[in-house]
Amino acid sequence: MRILNASGCLDALAAPEVARELDAFVTKTVTPLPREGSAPPRIAETAHGMLNAIGLANPGREHFLAEHLPRLSRLGVPIWVSVGGFTAADYAETCAGLGRSGIEAIEVNLSCPNVEEAADAAAAIVAACRRATALPLYAKLSAAHPDVAEVARAVAAAGADGLSLINTLRATALDEQLRPVLARGSGGLSGPALKPIALHAVSVCHEATGLPIVGMGGIQSGRDALEFAACGARDVALGTVLFADPGAPARVRTELAAAYVDAGVANPDDARSLAKSPETERKVTA
Ligand SMILES: Cc1cc2nc3c(=O)[nH]c(=O)nc-3n(C[C@H](O)[C@H](O)[C@H](O)COP(=O)(O)O)c2cc1C
Repeated sequence: MRILNASGCLDALAAPEVARELDAFVTKTVTPLPREGSAPPRIAETAHGMLNAIGLANPGREHFLAEHLPRLSRLGVPIWVSVGGFTAADYAETCAGLGRSGIEAIEVNLSCPNVEEAADAAAAIVAACRRATALPLYAKLSAAHPDVAEVARAVAAAGADGLSLINTLRATALDEQLRPVLARGSGGLSGPALKPIALHAVSVCHEATGLPIVGMGGIQSGRDALEFAACGARDVALGTVLFADPGAPARVRTELAAAYVDAGVANPDDARSLAKSPETERKVTA
């Protein structure tokens, strides 16, 4: 099981020593034009997670390709580029521009502002990216859709090679005076509160597609990573935990080895058989 960072949760150029502990580094989502992002405050603590309204702040495609990507490539870590946009053409043009850049994979962030999370809209974006590049495409989905497995099936049919699950969920936090803490009013919830939702999404999308999955959402320990493996994730990504513990990649890797022993399982497939939910069993036997 490889350990990656979750997009937007690590600046590899500012903290190269953390990035070098990963099996692959995933960039912050790159959009065609530069984005300043939302007004501050953009981060809020909650009881079991964190809210962010960064608003996809990024330097834009041209600057990323000319300035950031060459420096990232020199880190010696495989690079995944997270691609975002407002239309399928936005996504496809960025994918086309990454053709000979030496990156390992593209993560297609399907939870961008103005991008519909409907299965057919997500599939249209993935199909446009598929036509634009031969690089492996991982579709990153949110669990906000009432049937995430349906979206997973649609993007698989459109040519996705893998899935990244899950993105943040829209949420609000209030201050003492009952006003929203974030300037935008709401933001994306990440951290431990997401884990049960993410485990379910990984489980149903694994059953629905059999595609390789990068599982994420509240992973803090090796035991958490093992639970994602048990639900069908091939790899995991660390997000919010990196803000509090930049040493998390090495720590989680060590803990994961111990967690396998503690759980009495030898590999992810054994873990998966233990975790098959009654819901899944019913579907399999129906
Ligand atoms: C500050 C912050 C910025 C993020 N930026 C992005 C982004 O640019 N693109 C993206 O696909 N996901 C982004 N995410 C979502 C994470 O990649 C991840 O899907 C989510 O936080 C769940 O994992 P976690 O609970 O381990 O943080 C961001 C999350 C946080 C907390």
